[in-house]
Amino acid sequence: MVTTLLSAIGSLVTNDPAHGDGSRLGEIKNAAMVIDSGGRVVWVGEATRAPAADMFVDVGGRCVIPGFVDSHAHLVFAGERSAEFAARMSGEPYRAGGIRTTVQHTRAATDESLALNLASLIAEMHRQGTTTVEVKSGYGLTVRDESRALMLAGQHTDETTFLGAHVVPSEFEQDPAAYVDLVTGPMLEACAAHARWIDVFCESGAFDADASRAVLTAGIEQGLGARVHANQLGPGPGVQLACELGAASADHCTYLDDADIAALASSDTVATLLPGVEFSTRSPYPDARRLLEAGATVALATDCNPGSCFTSSMPFCIALAVREMAMTPAEAVWAATAGGAAALRRDDVGRLSPGARADLVVLDAPSYIHLAYRPGVPLVTDVWKDGRRA
Ligand code: NIG
Ligand code: FE
Repeated sequence: MVTTLLSAIGSLVTNDPAHGDGSRLGEIKNAAMVIDSGGRVVWVGEATRAPAADMFVDVGGRCVIPGFVDSHAHLVFAGERSAEFAARMSGEPYRAGGIRTTVQHTRAATDESLALNLASLIAEMHRQGTTTVEVKSGYGLTVRDESRALMLAGQHTDETTFLGAHVVPSEFEQDPAAYVDLVTGPMLEACAAHARWIDVFCESGAFDADASRAVLTAGIEQGLGARVHANQLGPGPGVQLACELGAASADHCTYLDDADIAALASSDTVATLLPGVEFSTRSPYPDARRLLEAGATVALATDCNPGSCFTSSMPFCIALAVREMAMTPAEAVWAATAGGAAALRRDDVGRLSPGARADLVVLDAPSYIHLAYRPGVPLVTDVWKDGRRA
């Protein structure tokens, strides 16, 4: 196996407290890292103690962090909704019903055009340092269109999520229960083989507690892991349901009461915050501090979608988390890497210590703090995925 030594790393964020300063970020100053041609990290430590390797890369004093793990994105869709965004910026509220507009465009799109849009968004994410991304269906809402979305997503990631329960499509408006039967029956049957996860938009205007429970339970019975769009637009049962069913993640978490916070803090369910949504819908941000102080595991993700938040940028979400949700830069960077990995129940990504995948980002900055300190500046200079610079 060929080994490569990355040296002259000004600051290396390992996310492994066994390394460096012993903090959660496990930051090593003046560091080096050895990766192998199998795409794994084999050694991290101080540059002066680095072992010999076959190849050598000088990082020039820059900062290296784990590749971002974007654990929540909706990338299989057609069309765009910039007019809705403009209306919101003039005072209109966000409405979940806008999803149906994208459903119409997505159903009408060819496989080729959906695949092109998806590939271009994945490439956009990669350029900004995202090396693992979860991709949901949810803009097809028929057996054919949902399974097509998942098959397309599966060409880019193993983290595929069946979100047939995104909204009740207009043709089922008069009989939402029949739509839940479709999602939990034939649609799930067609989609389960192409998905790792099942998700539901548990919100008034989408799916209530009973329907959400039925959807998640059916998915779990088919071997899928659960995740929930929870408490986004108002208080609701989503977070409690997610924790009760052992979901990997409750996403949004914008409107939480004390019991929701306590449930998240005492469970393995990660609270995934999506501050790009609050930015793009001009809504109040989730209370990240309350979650962190209660001991909940917090992840940050983009929620990239054409409606509520059309950013693909994890650095932007980090900057928002720091500025608008009072997370420290260290908490935000951890949440965007290790937090995302926890939300996907992965231990091979989101960290840079021996055994992890060599998925990493080189920042044109001396420290990870610059991700929030220099908002909007393209600091990502190199992205390595599976040990290869792309
Ligand atoms: O996560 N909340 C539900 N789904 C997306 C929005 C989708 C849309 O508006 O098209 C979200 O915000
Ligand atoms: Fe979402």
